[in-house]
Amino acid sequence: MIIAVDGPLASGKGTIARALSERFSLPHLDTGTLYRATGLAVLDAGADPSNAQACADLARNLDLDAIDETRIRTAEAGAMASKVAAIPQVREALFALQRAFATQPGGAILDGRDIGTVICPDAEVKLFVTADAETRARRRWEELTAKGERLSFEDMLAQTHERDRRDAGRPDAPMRPADDATLLDTSSLSIDAAVATAIRIVEKRQKA
Ligand code: C5P
Repeated sequence: MIIAVDGPLASGKGTIARALSERFSLPHLDTGTLYRATGLAVLDAGADPSNAQACADLARNLDLDAIDETRIRTAEAGAMASKVAAIPQVREALFALQRAFATQPGGAILDGRDIGTVICPDAEVKLFVTADAETRARRRWEELTAKGERLSFEDMLAQTHERDRRDAGRPDAPMRPADDATLLDTSSLSIDAAVATAIRIVEKRQKA
């Protein structure tokens, strides 16, 4: 079984995907990590983020074992990830890896922006997890400031809108729910309630 979990920043998709991975014993890939690592590689190399070829080369040569888990979670890495993610050659460079993960025997769970639409249009279960922008900005702001990052809530909200606009507005693989995705709005749900709802959706699909 392939489960695709898509949605915008801090919608809860990562938490839900991890919980589903545990519940259904399926390996999980957070595909945002690949774009974040590419964004950091661009920053570290001092490369021009508008140079498609240079960014794609860095994406192709990512060393996934050397990913710095702390640095890729920063707001800076997220913002650069969303810039390089708009480059078709970067997406193409990361396609085969994601597809190979998805099609491993026994199935997999992937979360991202284009899993249900581009990477796994054949997924048995597709979830599109959303929440209103204020709620998402507050969640991410609390997460980042707890880790010591200094940014105001207003800046976080502006970054959230900016990221939504860029991810949904790009011509190549824009963030959007697949036609056959189930929408899950987590704005007023606790983590436990959101996870329980997602589990029910998967179980219902399994029975069908
Ligand atoms: O999910 P996360 O916030 O870690 O993703 C960082 C950025 O990577 C997103 O804003 C988006 O631009 C990009 N991304 C993408 N497609 C995916 C996963 C992430 O374009 N499947």
